[in-house]
Amino acid sequence: MVVAITGASAGIGRALAVELSKRGARLALAARRTDKLNELNHELGGRHLVVPCDVADADACAAFVTQTYNYFGVLDTLVCNAGYGLLRTVVETTPAEWQAIIATNVYGTTNCIRAAVPLMLKQELRDRWRGQIMIVSSCLARRSGPDAGAYSATKAAQLSIAEALRLELDEQQIAVTSVHPIGTLSDFFDQAEARSGRKARRSVGEPTQTPEQVSIRMVRGIEQPCVEVWPYAMSRWVFGAATLFPKLTDGMVKRRWQRGVL
Ligand SMILES: NC(=O)c1ccc[n+]([C@@H]2O[C@H](COP(=O)([O-])OP(=O)(O)OC[C@H]3O[C@@H](n4cnc5c(N)ncnc54)[C@H](OP(=O)(O)O)[C@@H]3O)[C@@H](O)[C@H]2O)c1
Repeated sequence: MVVAITGASAGIGRALAVELSKRGARLALAARRTDKLNELNHELGGRHLVVPCDVADADACAAFVTQTYNYFGVLDTLVCNAGYGLLRTVVETTPAEWQAIIATNVYGTTNCIRAAVPLMLKQELRDRWRGQIMIVSSCLARRSGPDAGAYSATKAAQLSIAEALRLELDEQQIAVTSVHPIGTLSDFFDQAEARSGRKARRSVGEPTQTPEQVSIRMVRGIEQPCVEVWPYAMSRWVFGAATLFPKLTDGMVKRRWQRGVL
């Protein structure tokens, strides 16, 4: 299989690359920190393609996808994983911060997809599918909370994009999968805290997963394309129920927020 991964230099994207490489997949690895990508490629035997790419740049997204296809002659799965978090109230979030987070988390997803789908449409069916688009969203796509408005909005946008795209591409047999991790022990929170100049509030005993745990569930979603991957199984039900009982959920989130430790 050929899998193209954005945000492969760290965290979930990196762990996914390691898992897929172990299983024999050929990979195209994209991110801004090419030194990290080259190190990873070296660690994985040097047989993958490294592409410098800032996903906030539409041309760079198109170039990444095209280069992958031209190099391998096929693109089985595109994983739109690159993204970052921001800790801000909605009112504090500046226009520039909104633009920047949407450019990376949302347009970084749509611009890679726009480049990939026409190429996947040219491919023969393989195990029922011509290709797969996997979008790394978040559990927060279904329910936001304080200081997470802008970030969750981008993750909800990714979920809506996945839902629409899945039905739009169903007849053409391109699978679309969204991924909804809970708090994952990557660089994500350090990066968000540094960018925001504030600490994330985390509750004592709050469940977390490692990037490796998340990536193993993603690999299953690539081997057998499914609609949604919820790497922490219980969160699917908790966040699903939250959409049915918004007032009750507000109360629970508020209490958790007040108990939150800095
Ligand atoms: N960690 C969590 O708790 C959590 C929970 C739910 C969902 N997620 C989602 O999972 C995805 C991966 O996050 P992570 O936890 O692995 O975070 P991470 O360890 O901070 O890694 C983020 C990755 O995204 C890349 N990236 C960021 N901005 C980019 C840009 N403009 N262009 C290209 N690459 C960019 C980074 O590479 P460079 O800096 O080298 O460009 C890095 O490889 C994100 O979409 C995040 O929203 C994370």
